[in-house]
Amino acid sequence: MAGSDPRGFDDWFVLSAYQRFVRQEGAPLYEGSAIEDLASIELAEWERRGGRVAYTRLGDQEERNLQVVEIPPGGTLKPEKHLYDAVMYVMRGRGATTIWQEGEQRRTIEWSEGSLMAIPLNAWHQEFNGSGSEPCRLLFGTSMPHALNLYNNSDFVFNCPYQFKERYSYEMERYLETDKHWKQRTRETNFISDIRTMELDPYPERGNRTAIMRLSMSSTSIGMHVMSASEGTYVTAHRHGAGAHVIVVAGEGYELLFMEGEPAPRKVNASPYAVVAPKHNEYHQHFNSGHGEYRMLAFRGVGIRYGWGRTFEIARTAQSTDPNAESYKIPYEREDPQIREDYYRELEKKGIGLRLEPLDQGRS
Ligand SMILES: [Fe+2]
Repeated sequence: MAGSDPRGFDDWFVLSAYQRFVRQEGAPLYEGSAIEDLASIELAEWERRGGRVAYTRLGDQEERNLQVVEIPPGGTLKPEKHLYDAVMYVMRGRGATTIWQEGEQRRTIEWSEGSLMAIPLNAWHQEFNGSGSEPCRLLFGTSMPHALNLYNNSDFVFNCPYQFKERYSYEMERYLETDKHWKQRTRETNFISDIRTMELDPYPERGNRTAIMRLSMSSTSIGMHVMSASEGTYVTAHRHGAGAHVIVVAGEGYELLFMEGEPAPRKVNASPYAVVAPKHNEYHQHFNSGHGEYRMLAFRGVGIRYGWGRTFEIARTAQSTDPNAESYKIPYEREDPQIREDYYRELEKKGIGLRLEPLDQGRS
C-alpha cells in the first residue's frame, strides 16, 4: 500500500506519557489493586530530586497515583513545582517542607509521622529530613498521571511559570491556621499534624461504629478523607470508579476485594502502611480485626469543595435512594453470610469478644 509504514502497530504504539515519565525517572512502577506495605517497597535512586522514589499505577487507571519517596538521614530533596496536585503523608520520620511562589518569601512547615499536608498547585516545594540518623519515608497522593497524559509534555507540567496565587501565596498570613469544620464530616484545613489522632464525625451509613472526616486542603482537586472502623466492626462493601487509594494508617485488619460474580473475594492483610486501590467497579470492604481502632486515609478520585467532587457526590446520593442501590453498595443484611463468619473467626484469633449488634444488621 502506497505510503504505509512497514512497521506494525506495536512499533507505532507508545506508552502513555505517565509510564514514559516513570521510566525516565528510572523508578519502579507498582501495579495491581493492593500493596501490603508501602513502607517497605523497593525504591530506586532518584537523580532528579535526590533521595529514592517509586510510583504506582494501581486500580488499572492513570488519573491518580502514589509516589513513595525516601530521604536519607540529613538529606534534602531538590525543589520542584508542577501542574498537578499532590498531598503528602508522612509514613516515617520527621522533617520539613518549604513552600513558596517565585519572588515571594518562603514558608517552612515541620512534620512528623502521621502529618498530612497539601502541596499548593505549581508552587515550589522542597523537603528536608529533620533527622541525622533515620531516613524518612513520604507518600504523595497525586494527579500526576492525569496531568502528564493530558498535556503529553513533562516540560510544560514541571516548568510552567503560572502562579496560582489564589491557591497559595506568602501573603496568606493565616495559611497554616486555616481550620473550618464546614458541616458534618467536612473539614477545610491546610496542615494536620497527625491524622491518626484527629477527631472524626460518626458515619453510621457505612457500618456500625464507623467515623469519617472529609478533607479539603489547599484547594486541591484531590478528594480526601480519614475514616475509622472501631474495634470489632467492619465497613460495608461498595464499589465505584477507579482512582481511589485507601491507605491504612493505624490498627490491624484486612481488606476484601472482589469483582461482581467472582467465586471468592481476595483478601489482603492490612496494617500500616497497606494500600488498596480498587479497579473500576471492584467491590472493596475494610475489616478491623485487631485491638483498638482501624484507621484509613483515602485519596479519592475527586475533591468535594473544588474539582468535580459534587458530581461524584450527587451520583452516589441519587443511587442511594434507588431501589437498586445494592448495585454499588452491599448492606450488611445482603452480604454473603460467610463474610461475617470469617470475620468473627478472625476476631476470636485475637481474643476479641465484641460482636456487631443483630439489630444494626439492617442498617446500610
Ligand atoms: Fe471506596
